Amino acid sequence: MDRPIELRPATPDDAAATIALWHDAALVASHNDPAADFAFALAGPSSTVVLATAGATVVGSVMVGHDGHRGWLYYLAVAPTRRRAGLGRDLVAAAERWLAARGVPKVHLMVREDNRAVAGFYERLGYADMPRVLMSKWLHPG
Ligand SMILES: CC(C)(COP(=O)(O)OP(=O)(O)OC[C@H]1O[C@@H](n2cnc3c(N)ncnc32)[C@H](O)[C@@H]1OP(=O)(O)O)[C@@H](O)C(=O)NCCC(=O)NCCS
Repeated sequence: MDRPIELRPATPDDAAATIALWHDAALVASHNDPAADFAFALAGPSSTVVLATAGATVVGSVMVGHDGHRGWLYYLAVAPTRRRAGLGRDLVAAAERWLAARGVPKVHLMVREDNRAVAGFYERLGYADMPRVLMSKWLHPG
């Protein structure tokens, strides 16, 4: 029988299992360093990673943080064998509660062009397309 699912903040010891989940969910792009991303999210009070666990197994994650203005979600992932059972919804709700508890009024997220199919999931949760041009710049030499 499946273990009950629990949601909890990640700790540094969860790094390897969480990064393996991100790879399984095809979330790691070649320009990302997932270990650095995980450590940075846990390093300060304005961000965290929420995990879904079944016993000792990490089966879901979402990175959540704010920049002093808006909240942001990253690395939302549910293990392939656990999908379509409400876990993604529960993780997003936990991230939204984390932001609301810190007074953040609005949450944003980015969907890669090659992952547009996931927009249907976010729409089920009340998210809507926000037409903007997103610009970015690396602050260290590539
Ligand atoms: C996106 C993801 C986290 C969804 O997790 P999940 O646990 O399967 O989602 P849920 O079961 O909580 O689904 C919530 C609702 O969205 C719907 N839904 C789930 N995936 C969907 C999809 N790809 N397209 C449309 N609707 C979807 C569900 O049917 C459910 O609908 P309901 O309101 O009728 O109950 C999961 O598919 C995943 O890990 N994908 C790979 C990683 C990824 O793309 N992450 C997002 C990066 S922006």
